Amino acid sequence: MIKLLASLCSLTGLSVVLVSAQDVTHLEKIGPVISIEKSSTTVTFNCGDKSQVRLTILAPDLIRVRASFTKPIPTRDHSWAIARDDWSTPRWSLSEAAESITILTDELEVVVRRSPFMIEFRDARTHDLINADEQPMAYDAKGTLADRMFDPKAGMFVAATKKIGFDEHFYGLGEKAARLDKRRDSFVNWNSDTPGYTLGKDPIYQTIPFYLGLQHTVAYGIFFDNSYRSYFDFGHSSQQRAWFGAEGGEMNYYFFYGPSIKKILGRYADLTGHMPMPPLWALGNQQSRWSYYPDTMVEEVVREYRNRDLPLDVLHLDIDYMQGYRVFTFDTKRFPDPKALTEKLGREGVKLITIVDPGVKYQPPVPNAVQLTSGMPELQPQDQRYYVYEEGIKKNYFQHRMNAELFIPRVWPGEAVFVDYTLPDARRWWGDLHRAYMDNGIAGIWNDMNEPSDFVDQTGKNQFDVVSFDEGEKSTHAKNRNVFALLMARATYEGLERLRPNQRPYVITRAAYAGIQRYSTMWTGDTNSTWDSLALNIPMFTTLGLSGEPFVGSDVGGFMGRGNGELLTRAYQVSFLAPFCRNHKVIDSYDQEPWRFGKYYEDIIRKYLKLRYQLLPFLYTTLEEAHRTGVPLFRPVLLNYQDDPNTYNLDDEFMIGNDLLVAPVLKPDVTRRLVYLPRGSWYDYWTNKKYEGGTMVSSDAPLETVPMFVRAGSIIPMGPQMNYVGEKPSDPITFAIYPDEKGSASTTLYEDDGLSPAYKEGAFRRTTIAVKQVAGGYNATLSAPEGRYNPGPRKLSFVIISEQATRKVVTVADDGSPRKIEIK
Ligand code: GLC
Repeated sequence: MIKLLASLCSLTGLSVVLVSAQDVTHLEKIGPVISIEKSSTTVTFNCGDKSQVRLTILAPDLIRVRASFTKPIPTRDHSWAIARDDWSTPRWSLSEAAESITILTDELEVVVRRSPFMIEFRDARTHDLINADEQPMAYDAKGTLADRMFDPKAGMFVAATKKIGFDEHFYGLGEKAARLDKRRDSFVNWNSDTPGYTLGKDPIYQTIPFYLGLQHTVAYGIFFDNSYRSYFDFGHSSQQRAWFGAEGGEMNYYFFYGPSIKKILGRYADLTGHMPMPPLWALGNQQSRWSYYPDTMVEEVVREYRNRDLPLDVLHLDIDYMQGYRVFTFDTKRFPDPKALTEKLGREGVKLITIVDPGVKYQPPVPNAVQLTSGMPELQPQDQRYYVYEEGIKKNYFQHRMNAELFIPRVWPGEAVFVDYTLPDARRWWGDLHRAYMDNGIAGIWNDMNEPSDFVDQTGKNQFDVVSFDEGEKSTHAKNRNVFALLMARATYEGLERLRPNQRPYVITRAAYAGIQRYSTMWTGDTNSTWDSLALNIPMFTTLGLSGEPFVGSDVGGFMGRGNGELLTRAYQVSFLAPFCRNHKVIDSYDQEPWRFGKYYEDIIRKYLKLRYQLLPFLYTTLEEAHRTGVPLFRPVLLNYQDDPNTYNLDDEFMIGNDLLVAPVLKPDVTRRLVYLPRGSWYDYWTNKKYEGGTMVSSDAPLETVPMFVRAGSIIPMGPQMNYVGEKPSDPITFAIYPDEKGSASTTLYEDDGLSPAYKEGAFRRTTIAVKQVAGGYNATLSAPEGRYNPGPRKLSFVIISEQATRKVVTVADDGSPRKIEIK
């Protein structure tokens, strides 16, 4: 019998009971291996209890484990998360012994014990154990789980149990309101609307069932690709084991071997998709409020930004821009001419983004309703008939319950309906509806409430019998709730791609499932304007980065409750380097734009926003690395120093790329803090004073200053100050050179047009810059640029940073040719 423990959790003011299986050791175990079958890419194990397990060798460091309990593995094999199935089979061999079967690749040795059926992953070269089953894979044969989904197709609870290392650390699992190292914690994945969440609240909005284990500097990854409500336990219920399981579906996981985390993140991106490059302006400063209206208020906010010389690229329109919360419409009184507005703001360098929720107002047409004229429906009154609802009904794209009733949740418009995004035609229709925004000059789309939130019941129980097409399986929200947001974001992204093929889509989402990075960036939902909530920013952003979601950010200053100038300033000192930097605030709280608490705070915030824009060449280069390699921009220190155990729990500092280390102040009234600097030498960004790493240093941190250190040996490419992307050409590019002990430093600079998808076809430029100390100064070598993008004529400036007040500076004209520059 499985022991069940009900844990109380409150969602949006409601108390609900989530069942968490605390002891999986009592589940039915898979039977011993009776026979095996081999194909060119797989080994299938037939078990005594008629279960089947298939190991697929995808790459030398990537093995898929798929199990079907008491029956053969079904032929149907579908996942919304997986982006790639065309792996070229690596070299591998199979050997059989009396007690075990071994699969050997160039990197992994997978030993399968026949009885009991247990899997071990070892390093192919050293034979050292990386990860091993603690018990055979298991299933809830008796169906004793109390909180069963009302879905006959859900099947059984399935689980895998792993030995936990005495010194093993755990990272990842996407968006969790938790510390960086997840050891001794346990988690549930069930996308939930959780406004005002605090540390420990679980689950929250997203499901990324991917984690990393790290022991003795060696890392592995496990992606449990199962979208049912799932559970992860990293030594919480027992110090001997970690386990993961789900309330239905298949035991289906991918095992990644590093040993480096960076390598695993690359493979994970290969498997679930690489983040495409967003437009460069997405790295610009963004401002939001629930809600700015009417249009004159929007203009006033922008005017205020410009008058105050504060940088701004994007303004967000929250739900009140619509007619009675009807998606794909504009309130004709508040926003009579959205196109004129976007054009006007465009002249100020500001782009508009609109929120689009999944809830389509439930609105059968009133009898004898007036027909819409043939013009743009989004600008016509929709109170008699609502074109989105009517089209969706006609095409049968909305979700129904098992008894064929239309599913009618309650969200902002009151009664509403949701689209079945598993239907390819419905996704296409939804994507095409975004014409209403694109035709009016809207630059990007903000997907919210897509857990999907339902005011009737936030636990999701009201959705258990909601059916989706699901590639013909006709499964319920027991399986599909966690992928709803992924598919909505996909419909949105693909729609934007079709509507504006020459521009990169920009989508922001709240909920997600693994693979979301292919379609959307994200923010961490409804945080609080508190110091504790600010402190959570760092482990949440870094954890998301370790889970394949590089483009992250949080409402700067916090969303709920009243903030103050000090909190807002410290919040900008974290977010000015986060990929998504957007100040946003709940409807009924005090205003929070950068100037709201007075000039003293505003001046400091301006300094950081201006610095963000100067750092754009550096940030964009690092973002492109995330796109290409899966290694995020906003990193925990451990990602760069995996061999340094002092970094394994460090979550009040972060790094941008390999070179910049930032240690913000996360408490009130603090003007000095300790900063851990890893090995090597570091320059204080503000004073250029040099420190030796491998130790804690005490750093000055008055409100004006966020402690920031540059790695000796790096070069930070910077551009001119700007108030929006494209305000001026990036001329000159300044290379701030921080030489190491040997007088060397190097970097690469990535550039492209910042807007079009041409980078995918080689329209980019990557330049490598290497600096060496020589007699009397330094020599900088510029490589021949890679790629065929030409940024045009401009100047390059080389600045040698040193502790001494004097700086060596040389400026040359850039003609894109490889060359040597003397810096004397
Ligand atoms: C949700 C969002 C929040 C938004 C609000 C109104 O709470 O998380 O950002 O302002 O809905 O749309």
